[in-house]
Amino acid sequence: MKLTVFNGSPRGKKSNTTILLEHFLKGFIETDGNSYELVYIVTNRDVGKLVEISKDANNIILAFPLYTDCMPGIVKSFIDSLKPLCGKQNNPGIGFLVQSGFPETYHSRFVERYLEKLAKRLNCRYIGCIVKGGIEGIRVMPHFMTKKIFNSFYELGKVYGKSGRFDQMLLNKLAKPEHLSVLTVLFYNLAKLIGLVNTYWDKQLKENDAFKRRFDKPYTR
Ligand SMILES: Cc1cc2nc3c(=O)[nH]c(=O)nc-3n(C[C@H](O)[C@H](O)[C@H](O)COP(=O)(O)O)c2cc1C
Repeated sequence: MKLTVFNGSPRGKKSNTTILLEHFLKGFIETDGNSYELVYIVTNRDVGKLVEISKDANNIILAFPLYTDCMPGIVKSFIDSLKPLCGKQNNPGIGFLVQSGFPETYHSRFVERYLEKLAKRLNCRYIGCIVKGGIEGIRVMPHFMTKKIFNSFYELGKVYGKSGRFDQMLLNKLAKPEHLSVLTVLFYNLAKLIGLVNTYWDKQLKENDAFKRRFDKPYTR
């Protein structure tokens, strides 16, 4: 199988999307005859070229992080540019990977519905959508915390490489938790009270010299 993978993270090669794709593709490539091309949307702003790549592809996976409950702007522009595929015959099959910072999968179910509809409108066979929450920390988490997630991505890639399908049991496993448990919500509320919730994000804001401007409302008069 020939696969074209679009990485839609604005962080490009240094993204969490890259890490998850690495494990998926490691499994995918294990089947003899499989090959893939990996395209970073952020460094390929020539939309015409991206459309040509998509038209020529046999199978596509579009992977991106959830941004404000949807997709990053560069991914939306890419999707819009795929209009020439609408109504055409023999379009590639298309699958998606949506990963997010917040842990509950339910957060991404709305964009998942959009993506399924998108595949139909593009006249592409819908392969499915891998949804995984709680990913922001994977670059700093110790190995024992990421082992299961990475292995599931590897297995998903392996099954996909053999069958052209996403394994539903693995998708369900990755989708946990669909909602936060009452206990977790209580824990978050407690962490909020003692000022722990924003520690990680505040650190990033400080590193980018944006901490003082965190409550700015540039569009409010
Ligand atoms: C501008 C912006 C908006 C985001 N919006 C959401 C969101 O709505 N829900 C969520 O769970 N995570 C959100 N995140 C977190 C990212 O989805 C998460 O950090 C992801 O793992 C980043 O992946 P990447 O490194 O591949 O870009 C947002 C991050 C940024 C920078």
